[in-house]
Amino acid sequence: MDGLVIERAKKEDLNTLYQIEKECFPQNSFPKPFLKFLIIQHNSVFLKAKIRDEVIGFIVGIIQVPYSVGRIYSLDVKPDFRRKGVAASLLQALENEFKQKGVNVSLLEVDATNTAALNLYQKFSYRPIRVLKNYYGKQRDGIKMTKNLI
Ligand SMILES: CC(C)(COP(=O)(O)OP(=O)(O)OC[C@H]1O[C@@H](n2cnc3c(N)ncnc32)[C@H](O)[C@@H]1OP(=O)(O)O)[C@@H](O)C(=O)NCCC(=O)NCCS
Repeated sequence: MDGLVIERAKKEDLNTLYQIEKECFPQNSFPKPFLKFLIIQHNSVFLKAKIRDEVIGFIVGIIQVPYSVGRIYSLDVKPDFRRKGVAASLLQALENEFKQKGVNVSLLEVDATNTAALNLYQKFSYRPIRVLKNYYGKQRDGIKMTKNLI
């Protein structure tokens, strides 16, 4: 997408990021204090996507240091900006930073009915390793996926 900029999220972005999180996950969004915690954590990688100074999405992961594992917590793109490669750019940038920081394995959980996200992760060579029964609530399974980064 022309003019797309990926950069580190800051504390000042918190309100905007929380609005996007609520828009993307109306029923089970992360609470604002948890997003704040993820922004300020020293072992997190929190990246935002901007177009002409408007924040249109973000990705956040945590590096679990002793295990060289990077866990992706959230990936959100505002509805008006979807299917333009924004999530793919965010995921690529996160994986690059994971690798720079010595992460060997990327891990994530995704709703088993979330076709858009499942397609994206499959395109990026993530493979399913486990079904997580009722992970997102009653009758809402999750799928744990992983990818070797080395
Ligand atoms: C999932 C999500 C992040 C994808 O964002 P996006 O910027 O639209 O994704 P991209 O444009 O980078 O798409 C990359 C690939 O993902 C897949 N994909 C994305 N959206 C899709 C859709 N609606 N249907 C099917 N496949 C889709 C495709 O393989 C796509 O490649 P293509 O466009 O060449 O076919 C976005 O739909 C979103 O924010 N959804 C709500 C929050 C969410 O579910 N996050 C994921 C949590 S695990």
